[in-house]
Amino acid sequence: MCGIVGSVGFKNTKDYIINGLKDLDYRGYDSAGLAFMEGKNINLYKAVGPVSNLEKIIPSLKQNPYLGVGHTRWATHGKPSETNCHPHQSMHGLFTIVHNGVIENFLELKTKLQSKGFKFVSDTDTEVIANLLEDKYFENRNIIKAIEDTMGELSGSFAVVIIADIDNKHLYFMKRHSPLMIGRGEDFSLVASDASPMIRYTDKYIDLDDETYGFISASDVEIYKDKHPIKFEYTPKSPDLTVKDLNGYPHYMLKEIEEIERVVRRLMVEYYDKGEFVFDNNLMNQLHQSDHIIFVACGTSYHASLVGARYFDMLGKSTSTYIASEFAYYPKFPGRKPFFIFLSQSGETADVIHCMNIVKEHDIPCLVLTNKKGSSLERGCDYSLLLYAGLEVSVASTKAYAAQVCVLALLANAYSNRKEVIKDLEECCGVIADIDHNLKDKVYEIATQLKDAKDIYFLGRGFDYDMSLEASLKLKEITYIHSEAVAGGELKHGPIALIEQDTPVIVTISDNVTASSMRNNIQEVKARGAKVFTFVTNPLSNEHDTIVVKSHKRYLSPVVMSSLAFYFAYYVAVLNNREVDKPRNLAKSVTVE
Ligand code: F6R
Repeated sequence: MCGIVGSVGFKNTKDYIINGLKDLDYRGYDSAGLAFMEGKNINLYKAVGPVSNLEKIIPSLKQNPYLGVGHTRWATHGKPSETNCHPHQSMHGLFTIVHNGVIENFLELKTKLQSKGFKFVSDTDTEVIANLLEDKYFENRNIIKAIEDTMGELSGSFAVVIIADIDNKHLYFMKRHSPLMIGRGEDFSLVASDASPMIRYTDKYIDLDDETYGFISASDVEIYKDKHPIKFEYTPKSPDLTVKDLNGYPHYMLKEIEEIERVVRRLMVEYYDKGEFVFDNNLMNQLHQSDHIIFVACGTSYHASLVGARYFDMLGKSTSTYIASEFAYYPKFPGRKPFFIFLSQSGETADVIHCMNIVKEHDIPCLVLTNKKGSSLERGCDYSLLLYAGLEVSVASTKAYAAQVCVLALLANAYSNRKEVIKDLEECCGVIADIDHNLKDKVYEIATQLKDAKDIYFLGRGFDYDMSLEASLKLKEITYIHSEAVAGGELKHGPIALIEQDTPVIVTISDNVTASSMRNNIQEVKARGAKVFTFVTNPLSNEHDTIVVKSHKRYLSPVVMSSLAFYFAYYVAVLNNREVDKPRNLAKSVTVE
């Protein structure tokens, strides 16, 4: 993970780097650091915690540094500390680098470098790259050659930006698997993990390919691959990148929950026009021809894929669902003509990319549902469907989950040419609006009752179980309260042992097929002392239910009921003074396996 930025010749290096790091902190926020070339000196500033901590320790600068690099970290090797914080320097200070990625053979390289006399101060794999560069540079005194030789010895993933002590006019870079982009201005060059830090200053970008390396200067960019300079073209900025804005909300998560209705409406416009579905004909043909659909995703996206698989199952199609990190080690290709559907809000999740590469090696067609046009998954898959959810800033995904479920609902209905889905989604929007306007206060009341709970259980069956898994993930990730989702029928096969006096259990009932069994489950947990709260859809409700949601089609209940669950998690987090948008230990984009 981690985010990197750099600039040469820019008029306000400090602002670019600090603001750029804030734009990139979705990639990690354990610690942040930067290095400026001030005159002939390279000065390093580092702070544990968010970028604002780093900002506080930077003194006012007499002169604008001509070049600089910055880094926001999500710890992989070594705990979050100033010592492990980037930038890292080689032992003799020749190279100062920032790195995103994981060096798989770092221990082996470290031992080799130690035997040559190199000393290390941090626990990171990045310091190995810095020292290896220096070692290679000592062999032939040529920076580009040192980079080529270093790349030849590294296994794993890296995007590295390098300040060379002997060259105060250029920033060097090298890239494999981790993202890196260059932006060109009139008399400056920028570099960053994605376009977001650069969009205010340029609309000329180069999205670097794997195995490229080179340098940027104020007037020039030079890119090499396989020891030769290569030609490249600038592309204009991605139209999907919008600048972050809270719009008066206290947290992005709340803003994003309240955007769900709008996102659903946008999807209806994007995927249905003039009485017809708007999906690529080739995609629809491939889906029809396939005899097995395999969904692969992580976290929240995986939970959305469970709902999607249910949609296609209900149409008589065989499906499987896999957590990407599991599929990567035990890939399976059921059926004679499998078709893969990946889900990834960011389009950059390393485990999912790994699976896509496996699937492509087998020449099997694949589709990705993603919120990021131009992301690695969007570029790599045969087909892509955008989520049109707009920038999702909060680490906890909300509107992207709703969008994923809705796109899958539209796709499955297009598959069976069932146009009533548009009416169903319209109805769903009305129910979500009712939750936003009339029911969220009730959710807040429940949150006040449960804010000190140690454990909270979610119960559901069918679509309600799929949604409960997401409800439980959301709660634990932003409140740090232990939570589990249990399929109603599984209760008596073990989890009921955990129910004691006053254990909170949140039961969702929106599925008429499973409603009466869920009512039995309520009796079972109540008999063991559980404090039960029910989220129920009309007409399945009774006078004892806690929250009653307007009637809607049960296949869309994950979208509707998750809104309640998102509000619940949000309010419990706020009542406990949690960092709602940036929960501990997490990052928005999980770009390491
Ligand atoms: C939870 C959450 C994560 C992501 C997961 C996959 O709120 O956001 O579980 O869903 O890291 O990320 P994407 O969808 O970007 O592949």
